[in-house]
Amino acid sequence: MPFTKEFLEKVAPLYSAQMGTENMAPLLHSLINFHRPQRLLEVGAGYTTPFIAQALHDVVESRAQEAATTDNPNLVPEYFAQFYAPKLLCIDNHTLPGSTSAKVKDLMGEMGLDKYVEFIDADFTEYTDKIDPSYLPLDFVWFDCGALKEYFLFFNNFWRHVNPNGGLLLMHSTLTNLEISTFIKSIKLLQATSDFNNIEIMSLLEPHKKSQNSVTMCRRTTEVEEILYTIQP
Ligand SMILES: C[S@@+](CC[C@H](N)C(=O)[O-])C[C@H]1O[C@@H](n2cnc3c(N)ncnc32)[C@H](O)[C@@H]1O
Repeated sequence: MPFTKEFLEKVAPLYSAQMGTENMAPLLHSLINFHRPQRLLEVGAGYTTPFIAQALHDVVESRAQEAATTDNPNLVPEYFAQFYAPKLLCIDNHTLPGSTSAKVKDLMGEMGLDKYVEFIDADFTEYTDKIDPSYLPLDFVWFDCGALKEYFLFFNNFWRHVNPNGGLLLMHSTLTNLEISTFIKSIKLLQATSDFNNIEIMSLLEPHKKSQNSVTMCRRTTEVEEILYTIQP
């Protein structure tokens, strides 16, 4: 789905080369259009936030168009019978110099996207048990904050909140940073041993960048319901 010139101009002041999410933000938008999550969490606000909120708006519109379609036998009627009112919980404590997080809330209001986002000005480490139960389980999580300690703290405290029926956790900047790559190896070890049926893992690298250049996606599969639509006769 292309972004309008107006959208890109509006979000440009949130971009920071230090945060390096110029490709990540549109990727999040695409993944949300693909996965269609209802309850989302972002830790680390900035350029990525409006792309996530815009994706929720776009999915709401796509759903309405698809639901009105009468001549597409490929659509799944049960999917359209489900209530869909997506919401992003966005946590930031605004402590990182150079971050554009403090500008995000006002811009979302100006763009008419604030109805999709609830902003929490807090340290995520103090918020684990404070999430309103109506936001759980989380269908889509984008974590872009801190260093090794934060990655471990986040995974240890929030992974259990990710939807066991296929919820996605995406973590930024995971592959070429020695400490965080060690953290990813610890998750791969879990997957290879005790949690084979609980996690699927995939990482992507932007080869032209030295930092802020990667993402690791974990899919929580503990209670995935197998769906078979196509069976060869
Ligand atoms: C890498 S930046 C986020 C970049 C943003 N996703 C973007 O695309 O521009 C990390 C953000 O996490 C916030 N942060 C750092 N430690 C935090 C913590 N413990 N709890 C909540 N937010 C934190 C910082 O204030 C900063 O805005």
